Amino acid sequence: DSAILMHPKIWEASGHIEGFHDPLVDCKECKSRFRADTLEKKECPDCGGELTEERNFNLMFKTSMGPVEEDANSIYLRPETAQGIYVNFLNVKESMRMKMPFGIAQIGKSFRNEITPGNSVFRTREFEQMEMQYFCKEDEASNIYGKWKKLRKEWYLNLGVKEENLKFHDHDKDELAHYATEAVDIEYNFGFSEVEPFKELEGIHNRGNFDLTQHQKFSKQKLSVKELESEEYTPNIVEVSTGLDRALLMFLIEAYDEIEGGRGENSIKDKEVVLRLHHKLAPIKIAILPLSKKEPLSDKAKEIYDELAKEYRVQYDETGSIGKRYRRQDQIGTPYCLTVDFESLEDNQVTIRDRDSMEQERINISELKDYFRNKFN
Ligand code: GAP
Repeated sequence: DSAILMHPKIWEASGHIEGFHDPLVDCKECKSRFRADTLEKKECPDCGGELTEERNFNLMFKTSMGPVEEDANSIYLRPETAQGIYVNFLNVKESMRMKMPFGIAQIGKSFRNEITPGNSVFRTREFEQMEMQYFCKEDEASNIYGKWKKLRKEWYLNLGVKEENLKFHDHDKDELAHYATEAVDIEYNFGFSEVEPFKELEGIHNRGNFDLTQHQKFSKQKLSVKELESEEYTPNIVEVSTGLDRALLMFLIEAYDEIEGGRGENSIKDKEVVLRLHHKLAPIKIAILPLSKKEPLSDKAKEIYDELAKEYRVQYDETGSIGKRYRRQDQIGTPYCLTVDFESLEDNQVTIRDRDSMEQERINISELKDYFRNKFN
C-alpha cells in the first residue's frame, strides 16, 4: 500500500495540479454550487437564480506538512492510488524479482473534493479504489489492453451481474484523458436517472509510457528496465481502475429483490426482501438456527457451528421465530440456513434451506462439509 501523502512534485509530474479539475459555478442568489457540465440550463436548478461564470476547481484535497503553514509546505491527499504504484514500480520489480510484463495491484483510499457527491456511495469525497497497473513493452500494450477489457467484463458476469446491465463506453480521441492512448469505461445501469441510467463503474486505460517518463523527468531517477538482450526502455502501462464503493452499490442493486405479498413459507410480512447475492459475495455463508435455545439442542447446534466456522463465515442465531430468522438471513443474503430440530437428536440430520428456491433438504451431519464444498465451489 503506497502512501496517501506523497511528495507534491508527484502530482505535478502526473498532471493533476495542472489538469485535474471540474468546471464549477455558484448561484449568486442561494450560493449553491454545481458542476457546470451537469447543468442543462444557465440558471440555478434550486432557486432559478443567476449563476457565476465557470471556473476550474481542482479536485485534490490540500493540506500542509510540518509546523509552518505556508505554501511551500502544501501537500495533497492522493486522488488515485495509481501514482503511488508508478513511483514504486522499480522498487517492487527488483525486490520481488519480477520479469516483464507484470502487474501491481492495490486497494486503498483516494480523496477528491467532489463538487456534487451523492447518489448513495456512487460519488463520495473519500472512497476506495482497486487499481491494477500492468507494465509492458510498447508493442504489447494494445493487446494487453484488449485482454483486460475482456477479463474485467467476465469478472462482473462471474459474480452474477446481468450482461444487459453492463456497457462498454469506448473513448473517442477527443474524450481521452491527457495520459491515455486508448480508454474505455465499463458502465453499469445504476438507474439514478431515466435520461442517463448507465454510469461509470470502472476505467481501463492504455496509458503509454506517459507516467513513467514524467516521473523520471521530475524525480531524475531512472524508471526504465533492461532485461537480458532487450534494449533499455521505459515501460508502457495498462491500467484497470475500479471504485470499490461503486462495485458494492452495483452488487447490492443487482441482488436486491422485493416480493410483494411474501413468499408463502412462514410468511409474516406483506413484502419480503431477499438479497440474492452471489455465493462468493455473501458476507455470511451459512446460518445455524437451533429450534430451541436449550440443551441438548443448543449443544448439537454449537458443535455444527464450530465445525463449519473452520471453513466458512457462519452466523449462529437462536432468537425469534424460525420464520423471522429466515427473513433476517434472506435480507443479508445468506445463501443457506441450517436448522437443528428435535429430530436431529435422533437421526443426526439437519434441514438445509436454500435462500433463492426456499427448497429444504435433510442432510446427515457427517456429510455437511462435503455438501457445502459442492455448493460453494
Ligand atoms: N487511476 C485512474 C483513475 O483514477 P478515474 O476514472 O478518475 O480513473 C477510477 O477513477 C474509478 O474510481 C471510477 O471508475 C470510479 O469507480 C471510482 N471513483 C472515482 N471518483 C469517485 C468518487 N468520487 N466516489 C466514488 N468512486 C469514485
